[in-house]
Amino acid sequence: MIILGIETSCDETAAAVVENGEIVHSDVISSQIALHRAHGGVVPELAARGQVTAIIPVIQAAMAEAGVSNDDIDAVAVTNRPGLAGSLLVGVNAAKAFAWSIGKPLIAVNHLEGHVHANWLRSPAEAPHDLPFPAVCLLVSGGHTELLLMTSAHDYELLGETIDDAAGEAFDKGARLLGLGYPGGPAIQRASEGGSPEAFAFPRSQLGNSLDFSFSGLKTSLLRQVEGYRLPDDRPKQTGAIFPEHRPPIYRDDLPLADLAASYEEAIVDVLATKFVRAVEQTGARTMLIAGGVAANRRLRDRVEESAPAGVIVSWPRFEFCTDNAAMIAGRAWHLAQRGEFGDFATDVYPKGPIVHANH
Ligand code: KG4
Ligand code: ZN
Repeated sequence: MIILGIETSCDETAAAVVENGEIVHSDVISSQIALHRAHGGVVPELAARGQVTAIIPVIQAAMAEAGVSNDDIDAVAVTNRPGLAGSLLVGVNAAKAFAWSIGKPLIAVNHLEGHVHANWLRSPAEAPHDLPFPAVCLLVSGGHTELLLMTSAHDYELLGETIDDAAGEAFDKGARLLGLGYPGGPAIQRASEGGSPEAFAFPRSQLGNSLDFSFSGLKTSLLRQVEGYRLPDDRPKQTGAIFPEHRPPIYRDDLPLADLAASYEEAIVDVLATKFVRAVEQTGARTMLIAGGVAANRRLRDRVEESAPAGVIVSWPRFEFCTDNAAMIAGRAWHLAQRGEFGDFATDVYPKGPIVHANH
C-alpha cells in the first residue's frame, strides 16, 4: 500500500511517499526557518501563508522523487491535529482535494502519533526495525513532553507529562535568553560544544518520584545567571536590524556561553533520561522509543544509551525523521488504514489534541 503523506502543522511544509507504513520512497520538506528566525519564533499568520505557497510544489516534488503517479497512490494521509489551525487547514484542504480528485481515501493523522511512528521508518534497503512491545516512548517536541506506555502500535497509556513547559520549549526559551535565536534546540547544542556540563548547577526538578516533568524553574535559573553579563540597554537602537546576526550583542564578551549552554542542556537531558529509565523499570518495557524534535539532541541520545537497563532495546528515528516530516504521517496512516479509520469531507482540524489512541 502506497500512501502520500502531507504535514503542515506548524512551519514546515512536507510531503512523503511511504510503502506499507515503513519504507520511505521520498520525504520532501520545505522549511520556513529563515522566515521566522527574524521574529525569534514562529508567527502563525506568516506560517499559514508560507504553507499556501509551498504545498503544491512540495507534493509534486515528493511524488516525482518517489517516481509515482496519481494511479500508484492508494490513500492520502494528512496531519489534522495538534498544530496551528491556519497551517493545519492548508494541508487538510489540499489532502481532501487531492484524494477526491484521484478517487482515493483520506486518512487523518495525529501529529504526535506520527512522531512516535517515526521509529519504524526505514529506507528501501534497510531491514524492518524489530521493536517489541511493551515499549515506553519519551515524546519530546516543541509543544509536548510525555512518557507513554505502548502495549501495541495503537494502545498508549500516559505515564507522565510536563506540568509547565515542554522540553523543546525549554531549549527554545533558553536559546532566546542566551541570545542564540530560533530554533533553540540545535542552537544550544551547537553553542554547548567545548563547554562543561558541570560548570553551572542548574536545578533538576524531579517532582518527587513521579514521572511528570517541570522545566520552568530551569529557565528562571538561567535568567539569573546571564543577568550579570547584560550590557546596558541605553545604546542607540539599530533600525532595520531584524536578523539576529545584525543585532547588537546583548551580553559582555566574557559571558561563558559554551559552559552555560552545556550545563543548561545537561539539566534538561538529565531529568528526561532519569525519568525515562524509571518508567522502563516500573513497567518492565522491552523497548525505549524516543520521538519528537528533541530526539535529534546528541547529548540526550548518549545519555539514554548509557543509562538504558541491560537487554532493553533503545530506538530513535533517523535524524531527519525526528523533527517534523510527512514520512511519519504516511507511516502512521498505514496502521489507521488497516483498522479502517478513514477521514472524509467532514474531517476537521484540532489545534490542541492529545494522542487519539490513548486511554488517559
Ligand atoms: O517535533 P518538532 O520538530 O516540532 C513540534 O512538533 O513541536 O520539535 C521542535 C522542537 C523545538 O523546540 C526544537 O528546539 C527542538 O525540537 N529541537 C531540538 C533539537 N532539534 C530540534 N532540541 C534539542 N536538540 C536538538 N538538536
Ligand atoms: Zn512535531
